[in-house]
Amino acid sequence: MCGIVGILSNHEAAPTLVEALKRLEYRGYDSAGIATVNKGKLGRRRAVGKLVNLNDLLVHDPLPGKSGIGHTRWATHGAPTVSNAHPHRAGCVAVVHNGIIENYRDLRGELSECGIEFQTETDTETVALLTERYITDGLDPVEAAFKALDRLEGAFALAFLFDGEEDLIVAARKGSPLAIGHGDGEMYVGSDAIALAPLTDRITYLEEGDRAIVTRSGVEIRDQHGALANRNLRTIQIDTSQVDKGGHKHYMAKEIAEQPHVIAEAIRHYLPVGDDMVHLPGDGIDFTKVQRLTMVACGTAYYACLTAKYWFEKIARLPVEVDVASEFRYREPPITEGTLALFVSQSGETADTLAALRFCQDKADKIVSVVNVPESSIARESDLALPIYAGVEIGVASTKAFTCQLAVLLMLALKAANDRGEISAEDLADHVSGLRGLPNTLNTALEQNDAIQQAAQHLSEARDVLFLGRGVMYPLAHEGALKLKEISYIHAEAYASGELKHGPIALIDQHMPVVVLAPRDALFDKTVSNMQEVMARKGKVLLVSDKDGLDEARDGTWITIQMPPIMENLTPILYSIPAQLLAYHTAVAKGTDVDQPRNLAKSVTVE
Ligand code: F6R
Repeated sequence: MCGIVGILSNHEAAPTLVEALKRLEYRGYDSAGIATVNKGKLGRRRAVGKLVNLNDLLVHDPLPGKSGIGHTRWATHGAPTVSNAHPHRAGCVAVVHNGIIENYRDLRGELSECGIEFQTETDTETVALLTERYITDGLDPVEAAFKALDRLEGAFALAFLFDGEEDLIVAARKGSPLAIGHGDGEMYVGSDAIALAPLTDRITYLEEGDRAIVTRSGVEIRDQHGALANRNLRTIQIDTSQVDKGGHKHYMAKEIAEQPHVIAEAIRHYLPVGDDMVHLPGDGIDFTKVQRLTMVACGTAYYACLTAKYWFEKIARLPVEVDVASEFRYREPPITEGTLALFVSQSGETADTLAALRFCQDKADKIVSVVNVPESSIARESDLALPIYAGVEIGVASTKAFTCQLAVLLMLALKAANDRGEISAEDLADHVSGLRGLPNTLNTALEQNDAIQQAAQHLSEARDVLFLGRGVMYPLAHEGALKLKEISYIHAEAYASGELKHGPIALIDQHMPVVVLAPRDALFDKTVSNMQEVMARKGKVLLVSDKDGLDEARDGTWITIQMPPIMENLTPILYSIPAQLLAYHTAVAKGTDVDQPRNLAKSVTVE
């Protein structure tokens, strides 16, 4: 959600803090700020909007000091204003925070009774004020920060900086990730390792409830009970080229183009060359013991689960329930014996998905996650984590993570079908060869970029757009609509093609573009009938299909986009390309901020 960073450096901290915040800006971009200690004195600069505004401010009003903390904000409590921007300061304490302090109203009440006044509407200011009060009471900065931490409820990652302390950052993690970076005579704190990537590859991840006392000579970590904790120092590999745009105009364009490569990587890990069996890491999964699958996720990852339901049920004959995490976690659904609980998350930090996972922890037979960040909380709290190998995804709208999730889930469904004796050797071999050929087919689909760009010019004039799909393409209709609305701000909705006549057809007139995702599969004729119903009411059909499908059904359509032919179960992965490119080019045509669309953040670590 928000991104936090801390640096105990031997050089001026401000430029490094801003550089590190740039790599965290995908987490939120409502405002940004930094604080440093210089000659024993705390100072800070904050600006509303993107980081570039903070940068401009620092050009005119530099902030010296070799120790500092920084923040990029996705507003939760309080509007995106300068006074609500982090770092929050109370006397000799400055604090940056990612997460939510749930009991901040109680704490505010308590502080108000002592005559303390508030400058902001944020929950974070309470932490600074509480710490400041304990220092005034006579505690040293570390004791005061720890005592304040004892009082906090909710989910947070925090970093504290103190007046008069040039060699100290106190950091804490509860529910939001935090990494400590080890440099040469320098130390760092970051919401993730990407923020610290050019500074160091030596990282210690804090665990739930951990508190860290960071100085230039190292870090002392205490667990939630106050005992000294020994956390591994790992050397991690982050290819820093993953965090540049590689010649593309936007991260999203780069990430769409990367899909043939990253999907090949995912397939190679689960289907090693020369072997037609799906291999899982660690103890794997014995699907003969699984009676039902419960899949939980949010947003795009939820649509990946909805797609996988078709595969698990159809190919592996395994009953599947899919739910959005924010509903699942409070519904307290009964988890019956033989349930495998599967959580899908790009970031591995989504608060609702993590809470849903924790709900299942002592109820499901096994907890499995499909994640892009193997060090994430969701991965670490699962019995088995299945990486998707998409590489770092920076564009806020998920693209390559979605298709890699789909590829991994399809391979998992094939494994389930094989374990349960529901798939013939021939059918399995067909799917495996289809998967191995997928990267090439995706490349062919990407060649439609120019045609899709032209179509998007027209789409960008629409106020509302409908997406239709049937069978395994129905969840992709949802994903296509989500992509379009989140980056172009055009209202878009998805329906199962067969549902159209049960209400939404009332919306159709000559102004309504309807994107129909319809490969020439077993259900094609039925979808074409629904498409005819749209065209009969002057609706403008943008048909995405293969050559056979277009030859049969292009008459009367508004625009067509041709995809290469592919086996039915792979169509959702292939047709993701036109869905993503349509959204991308529409957003570019409208001039919106493609990589950082308004109101959104990449990693949603609050409820
Ligand atoms: C949309 C998008 C979001 C995420 C959702 C879950 O493009 O990216 O809908 O899919 O916030 O995030 P993760 O997968 O990190 O749990």
